[in-house]
Amino acid sequence: MIIAVDGPAASGKGTVSRKIADLYGFSYLDTGLLYRAVARDVAAAGASLEAESDALKAAQSLDFSSLDDDSLRITGVGEAASIVARYPSVRATLLDLQLQFSRKPPGAVLDGRDIGTVVCPNADAKLYVTADPEIRAERRFLELSNLGESVTREGVLEMILQRDARDTERADSPMRPAADAMLLDTTKLDIMQSFDAAVELIKRKIGLPGT
Ligand code: DC
Repeated sequence: MIIAVDGPAASGKGTVSRKIADLYGFSYLDTGLLYRAVARDVAAAGASLEAESDALKAAQSLDFSSLDDDSLRITGVGEAASIVARYPSVRATLLDLQLQFSRKPPGAVLDGRDIGTVVCPNADAKLYVTADPEIRAERRFLELSNLGESVTREGVLEMILQRDARDTERADSPMRPAADAMLLDTTKLDIMQSFDAAVELIKRKIGLPGT
């Protein structure tokens, strides 16, 4: 059983995905962490984000156990991740890791940008979680402020818009809803309401037991 969840930064897809995985006892993979870890490892090697070959090397030697790293959450790493995510060779390397993960019994929830379109086009249920950019920026602003980062609301909104543009405009596996994805707009929803709405959509599609 595979549940694919896609959507832009700070849409709430990560929180919703983790809670869905907990509810059904499925494994959960935040695929953004793979791209973030590649960007981190490129920087740690003193290599350039602008060189596909350096990013590929980092992707090929990626250590899954290094994904549980708080430093992957900071703003600069997300930006750098969306740069290395443009490289087809990096995406192809990370695709294998994601496919292996998606086969975990009894089921897996993967979230990202291209899960329903490229990684798991045959997923049992696909969600595309989104929210207005201003709301996403406010959520990210609060998150980063809590982590102690010195950011402004305007600066975070600008970053979110830039990242959306980079992720939707890249040639390889751009961010977009799969044709058969169920849309969930969390603009006016809090975490629990978003989760409840997601469970309703999934139940309607594949009839899993609800909360
Ligand atoms: O979900 P996130 O913010 O942690 O993702 C960081 C970047 O990684 C995102 O801007 C684009 C890239 N990414 C991707 O291209 N494909 C995915 N499946 C997940 C993330």
